[in-house]
Amino acid sequence: MGFALVMLIATLFFGMLASFSYLNPEFYNQYIPFYQLRPMHVSAALFWIIGGATSCLLFFKKEVSEEGAKRTIAERLFINLWMITVVVIFLFYSFKKFGGREYWEFPPFLCLPLLISWLALMVAWFKAWLKAKDYPLYVWMWTAGICFFLFTFLEQNLYQIPWFRQSFLKEVIVQWKSNGSMVGSWNQIIYGCSLFLMVTLTGEDSIARTKTAYYFFFLSITNMMFNWGHHIYNVPSASWLRDVAYGISMTEWLFFIKMLQSFKEKMDERRKFKHLITYKFLIAAEVWVFFNLTLALLMSIPAINRYTHGTHVTVAHAMGTTIGINTMILMAAMSYILRVDELEIRDKRWVHWGYYISQASLVVFWVSLIIAGFLKGTRQFNFPHITYQELMVPVNYWLRVLSFSGAFLLLGFLLMLKTYFKALRKA
Ligand code: HEM
Repeated sequence: MGFALVMLIATLFFGMLASFSYLNPEFYNQYIPFYQLRPMHVSAALFWIIGGATSCLLFFKKEVSEEGAKRTIAERLFINLWMITVVVIFLFYSFKKFGGREYWEFPPFLCLPLLISWLALMVAWFKAWLKAKDYPLYVWMWTAGICFFLFTFLEQNLYQIPWFRQSFLKEVIVQWKSNGSMVGSWNQIIYGCSLFLMVTLTGEDSIARTKTAYYFFFLSITNMMFNWGHHIYNVPSASWLRDVAYGISMTEWLFFIKMLQSFKEKMDERRKFKHLITYKFLIAAEVWVFFNLTLALLMSIPAINRYTHGTHVTVAHAMGTTIGINTMILMAAMSYILRVDELEIRDKRWVHWGYYISQASLVVFWVSLIIAGFLKGTRQFNFPHITYQELMVPVNYWLRVLSFSGAFLLLGFLLMLKTYFKALRKA
């Protein structure tokens, strides 16, 4: 968990530097250029989300399954091999040694230890549930996420087989498809964590047994398998795929909102107070689901999509969901595990301050990306003959706002993580 939190700091730090290097390439190109910072930032984000989700998963497994508290050999193998490989990946990045494909831009042979490590996690996972008699819904969600990650990870590496590289179109479709559906796999794990938290905080086991919850689960499974259509909008493929994919992904968001709402209703005041920090982050995730749902709906209108496709609006969608939803749920899960709510008021104050600073700066951050993207898209259409530099003049203003708010986002998280690390040491 500590390692995952370090990855979160790295994500924020590299992201901030990436935005500065984008705006001042002359200076940064001498030391650390954008093409180096972007993979560092994006890979750190993936390792934060996947590492954070699996560390929560391993902890919750001990709470729910019959297994003892002792860490198994398979778990140790997963944790150590994963961390060592990630460190090696960053060493390669720091020497500008790239390879692989988008989001996984390190030399491809490093995917092998990641794969072995994931298989070890799967062994540990399934072994723990062999003796169990009852499998609550969140266990199904975690299991689905773990299995589907393996599937999409293998798919993402298919390009290493020469046949997939023979046609550019074939390779691009498989790449974009697998990256799109991989998001579904970690969403399963993270939403499973949020469901577990709801059940534990409210003491209402029924939350995970309602018809709505099961509908949600089956819809999200369908989502994992079919919602990748919008990732290949730009490549020639069957058009019905897009319609089906978009319809399905929308329903998943709606069900998630419904579940959080029912959780809020069931939460009684006393418990709400006791788990205040955990609850706060779950509420933040709920708000960000609404924001991102609105953006996604607007982006799906063809007349708007025409201007936004491939611009910073897409980046707003990617970062809005990974920061606003995934990161907030992980912060909630970790605050529960590390018992942050039981710390002294003095320590909790840092989290409260950090929380408000990060939420406020995330709003500015997200809005500035949307405006930058929309400006770029409309200017591309309205002024097709101007130079790129001219095109970017008003856009760069909003990218400066983005950098500035990104620095506050980093500050907000650092304040919160100061307390999280203290709790981690105590734990
Ligand atoms: C927890 C925090 C963060 C997470 C999880 C995160 C995640 C991501 C992801 C997934 C992407 C890829 C987007 C895409 O391919 O469309 C991305 C790109 C990017 N992020 Fe972040 N990010 C975080 C914080 C930040 C911060 C604080 C900044 C600083 C301003 C930042 C600046 C950037 C930049 C400049 C890019 C590249 C955009 C491009 O290539 O057009 N990020 N981030």
